[in-house]
Amino acid sequence: MKGAPKFQVLVVDDEQVQREMLEGFLAKQGYGVEAAASGAQAIEKYKGSPFDLVLTDYRMPGMDGLQLLKELKRLNPEAVAVMLTAFGTVGTAVAAMKEGAYDYLTKPIDLDELLLLVQRVEREVGLTRENRELRAQLREKFKVDFIVSASRGMEEALNLVKRAAPSTATVLILGESGTGKELIARAIHYASPRVEKPLVKVNCAALPENLLESELFGHEKGAFTGAVGRRIGRFEQADQGTIFLDEIGDLSPALQSKLLRVLQEKEFERVGSGQTLKVDVRVVAATNRNLEEAIQKGTFREDLYYRLNVVTISLPPLRERKEDIPPLIEHFIAKYTRENEKPTLSISKEARDLLLSYNYPGNIRELENIVERAVVLSRGDTITTKDLPLNLREGKVEDLMKETGKGRSLPETLEEIERLRIAQALQSSHGVQTKAAEELGISERVLRYKMKKYGIGDKDCIVS
Ligand SMILES: Nc1ncnc2c1ncn2[C@@H]1O[C@H](COP(=O)(O)OP(=O)(O)OP(=O)(O)O)[C@@H](O)[C@H]1O
Ligand SMILES: [Mg+2]
Repeated sequence: MKGAPKFQVLVVDDEQVQREMLEGFLAKQGYGVEAAASGAQAIEKYKGSPFDLVLTDYRMPGMDGLQLLKELKRLNPEAVAVMLTAFGTVGTAVAAMKEGAYDYLTKPIDLDELLLLVQRVEREVGLTRENRELRAQLREKFKVDFIVSASRGMEEALNLVKRAAPSTATVLILGESGTGKELIARAIHYASPRVEKPLVKVNCAALPENLLESELFGHEKGAFTGAVGRRIGRFEQADQGTIFLDEIGDLSPALQSKLLRVLQEKEFERVGSGQTLKVDVRVVAATNRNLEEAIQKGTFREDLYYRLNVVTISLPPLRERKEDIPPLIEHFIAKYTRENEKPTLSISKEARDLLLSYNYPGNIRELENIVERAVVLSRGDTITTKDLPLNLREGKVEDLMKETGKGRSLPETLEEIERLRIAQALQSSHGVQTKAAEELGISERVLRYKMKKYGIGDKDCIVS
């Protein structure tokens, strides 16, 4: 790994010759090595800087290898130590492993074997370190502090996030598409005591019922045609962590009752298995549907609704919290200039006013897309109205044609017009996709595809 700190090994042996031999060998292989002549000296050195690996002899006067190992583990439960034992003393090796030694080597030390072992530890330590860093990065990225909020509605939502996060209470997040439901779900997990455990996402609208069931609960080999092996479900994967059930309003009645049971009893069975499994999972659910209406219509179970909405966080649409627009613009300009390695950009007053006057059927995701595009298109140090999509300008098609005439290709012009019409239709149908598709004379599937293309809609199912 380029630039990574050297892997540090501490060699502990009372015999000078052996000590210097190991030290010299490992140093020649490029490791950072130090040596200690006794257990006490080793502890001193370890306290000064925790080594990645401690290679210790077992038989030493004073503190022996086993005592040293115990002391190291007390100082750092994740300490990695390898015990060097005399040939034929299996009991010592077993005792060392019981105390949490990583492995043991018998003397006389085979240097090739030693090298392989050190390399293996190095790889594993590297992986744990990477994982830890990755988690720290994610925690940083999804910190509640980074969620932009200037409006009362968002402040209230974030307040709830902070209060609900430390508990295991089920949280229901409501809001139109693109209002930040997933962002809030992640913030809850990363602000909760479960942060070191998995956050597992399931998009309940992405799969047909039978596949979703085995996705959620897993299945046994042969449970149904095509079930070639056993599968561990998402609930099991999320044990001790958080499961994020996205688009919960799309869950079929049968799965609704299974989910209700998990919420009530914390137990379920894999498909095709009689064995009941227990899990400790925190549930965060989200939907852009109106669940109360769905209950009225009989498509959503009322008892499940009450189980889910222990804490409900409602994210208002962006058009109802325009105070959030200016800080969001700044936030996204900073994000995308950084990502595209562009110098600092400002935005003209006209462009800002235009962004403030639009009403965002695709909510924050749409604003984010508009700003990203503007950052990419902008020349010079200021974003101007020219860098914004034409549909913000609410012009007639003829006006659009005039504007698009200036230096835009035919496909670009057509895309602008398409984007404009879709945005209009979504606006007039208040975001109801069935209605918008009907108005546009296209299928809902095509509409969703185009919304995605233009950044005014659903995102793919991500599992992390
Ligand atoms: N308050 C906010 N501050 C900063 N970024 C935000 C905020 N709200 C949303 N975003 C960003 O907007 C985008 C859309 O948010 P998100 O995916 O969480 O929405 P959603 O409600 O889950 O949408 P959908 O219903 O379509 O799945 C994401 O890139 C997210 O990071
Ligand atoms: Mg989402």
